[in-house]
Amino acid sequence: MTAPQRLRRLLATLVLAAGPALANEVADPSVVVNTQSLPAITAATPPGNPYRGQARAIEIGRHAFNQACARCHGVDAVNKGQVGPDLLRMDRACSRIADPAIREMCVLDNDDFFLKSVQDGKTRVGVVHMPAWKDVLPPAAIWTIRSFLESRKP
Ligand code: HEC
Repeated sequence: MTAPQRLRRLLATLVLAAGPALANEVADPSVVVNTQSLPAITAATPPGNPYRGQARAIEIGRHAFNQACARCHGVDAVNKGQVGPDLLRMDRACSRIADPAIREMCVLDNDDFFLKSVQDGKTRVGVVHMPAWKDVLPPAAIWTIRSFLESRKP
């Protein structure tokens, strides 16, 4: 084997070894979130988090978060040294907006970003940093998680 051949073989081995380890993040299909006790989401439900501030949703969301998200974002969203970003910081910029109507628009925008982030996950240059949850968590379950995170804001 010539030197370039050896190099190519070495590279191929490295890619094969690293590939699955980098791209194997999948949503845990065993996560079950029961939202039957909450108002159903229908076509008439306005956009945004329909469960904001609701105690029962927050409790359901806490369990859901700790099952599905805590391993990367920290148990109870306490985020010291986690691989995922601190989700309690998401609405910081909105909370500094004085005008209530504009603040509400900012939070609605974050609702949308949150839902899409969780449903589609985060993939960059072919590497899955966060799995897509859309086949495991219906929107109602995702909103309970958002409600829980919002309840944790200082
Ligand atoms: C395998 C680890 C992992 C799991 C599990 C995970 N995340 Fe993430 N999440 C990440 C990483 C890493 C990022 C940052 C990715 C990026 O921006 O490229 C991220 C980003 C996010 C973002 C965007 C935050 C921002 O400010 O940009 C949201 C929202 C989010 N995750 C919510 C969740 C929720 C809710 C769950 C549980 C249903 C969850 N994540 C499960 C790793 C994970």
